[in-house]
Amino acid sequence: MRRTYAPPEVIMETCTGCGLCMEVCPSFVFELMDATAAVVRGDWCIGCGHCGAVCPEEAIRHESAALGKGPRPGSELAITPEQLMLLIRERRSVRNYRRKPVPKKVLERIIEAGRYAPTGSNSQNVRYVVLTAPEEIDKLREMAIAFYERIFGLVRGRFGAFLLGLFAGRRIVENLRESLPKIEHVKEVMAQGEDRLFYQAPVVMVVHAESWDTCSAFNGALALYNCSLMAHTLGIGCCFNGYLQSAVNNSRRIKKWLGIPRDHRCFGAMTLGYQKIRYQRLVKRDPAKVVWR
Ligand SMILES: Cc1cc2nc3c(=O)[nH]c(=O)nc-3n(C[C@H](O)[C@H](O)[C@H](O)COP(=O)(O)O)c2cc1C
Repeated sequence: MRRTYAPPEVIMETCTGCGLCMEVCPSFVFELMDATAAVVRGDWCIGCGHCGAVCPEEAIRHESAALGKGPRPGSELAITPEQLMLLIRERRSVRNYRRKPVPKKVLERIIEAGRYAPTGSNSQNVRYVVLTAPEEIDKLREMAIAFYERIFGLVRGRFGAFLLGLFAGRRIVENLRESLPKIEHVKEVMAQGEDRLFYQAPVVMVVHAESWDTCSAFNGALALYNCSLMAHTLGIGCCFNGYLQSAVNNSRRIKKWLGIPRDHRCFGAMTLGYQKIRYQRLVKRDPAKVVWR
């Protein structure tokens, strides 16, 4: 079910009829009538708050418009392009964590960055599950490992691989088969007590959202990436975890244990914690593959 919003309200005495609200509204909510803005399709409002955010006269009231609060866009230099690029290139996957717990206040600030990420149709449908109790993280790890033991058990055999291919697709099974030598090694080091799944992180975070919504995957990724950047600025390292994401989506047991509703999917997971080893250099990538037309 889509979230619905009460329609915005136009303060007629203040509205100058400049039409800016009409121009920025993605949902055709406003029309100009008698030289002022009028709400004509209020039930189409997606609560983006753009109308309130552009109105120079503060003539629009809406639950989603942050009127008079906080800095105005452009009034302070948010961040220079150089600083942004530095932040993007400084963020690296962190796979070595100190045992130190991350205070809840810090985690809340990280999630706050996720909360401000955009979502398709402003659905704001991303939910978070945050595990900080070591016994809960141990339990999740144990379930994920059990899941992968089953999957790799199938992949090792010809018939199992064929069966799995029918469900998961041939390319995925080929990829799993190719990674078998590495998986065997991971198994060995994990048997010796090394945690190559969560890297002994004190925090594991999972985001999920309704699976019917075609924007949910992107919503989840944006939210989690925002979180990862905020985490970096707070001195917290993180590592996205595709293995956990896949385990959650393919194991009913794990999904249920995490309290994720059946009609939701996990759209991202990551480990977080204070970094043990610091990177000395920025990230380097391939040149962008672009087609200019
Ligand atoms: C969608 C996604 C899933 C990932 N899953 C894992 C994972 O399961 N385990 C892991 O150690 N790293 C995982 N990573 C981290 C990548 O390996 C890493 O981002 C990549 O090697 C580039 O390194 P950097 O993040 O330090 O720039 C994942 C990254 C992404 C974007």
